[in-house]
Amino acid sequence: MTARAEAIRSALGTKSIVMVGLMGCGKSSVGRRLSQILNLPFIDADEEIEAAAGKTINEIFADHGESHFRDGERKVIARLLMHGPQVLATGGGAFMNPETRQTIKKTAVSVWLRADLPVLMRRVMRRDNRPLLKNVDPEARMRELMAEHYPIYAEADVVVDSREVPHDAIVEEIITLLLSGPLAGDMPDCSQPATEPSTTGRA
Ligand code: S3P
Repeated sequence: MTARAEAIRSALGTKSIVMVGLMGCGKSSVGRRLSQILNLPFIDADEEIEAAAGKTINEIFADHGESHFRDGERKVIARLLMHGPQVLATGGGAFMNPETRQTIKKTAVSVWLRADLPVLMRRVMRRDNRPLLKNVDPEARMRELMAEHYPIYAEADVVVDSREVPHDAIVEEIITLLLSGPLAGDMPDCSQPATEPSTTGRA
């Protein structure tokens, strides 16, 4: 691990890093890459909800409705956040729940991957796994969700613009922002480049 990654690990302690943002913003792919760099487990909340229910998200919505899904989402995320440190990707609606938001504020640092509409649309149209976009005009629905969610997502500790660049570039931005932002007080000084420990035993 790099000195920057180690500094984040030690400042996190048992806290998690929670990825927040709308469908298609890259929470899972960027979160997974961030977890590799930090040598932390990566957990996807939607996958955990599916495992707990024994059904896909589409099936949960179809069989039980959205409010049942939201209830399960809140409980699963509360359980997952008891087991930091980790990188946790949440579904686009999770941070909108006030109780979940409070739990995240207490137990994690949050990273909002902000993306503009064309980026989100290009990505969500690739798959048919988003019940909120079924039987509606997906672009109009995404516009509504942006208007509703972005003011709340703005409460996240760190905001990074998700765009069509390699994931590693986004991950580096997140690391830089975490080092200078919410974790800065808990961190050794890592503004200077790391000097590798001597392997010869001589200083
Ligand atoms: C949802 C986003 C989805 C999933 C569910 C509801 C939302 O997750 O949790 O379909 O409310 O925005 P992704 O953001 O990972 O697509």
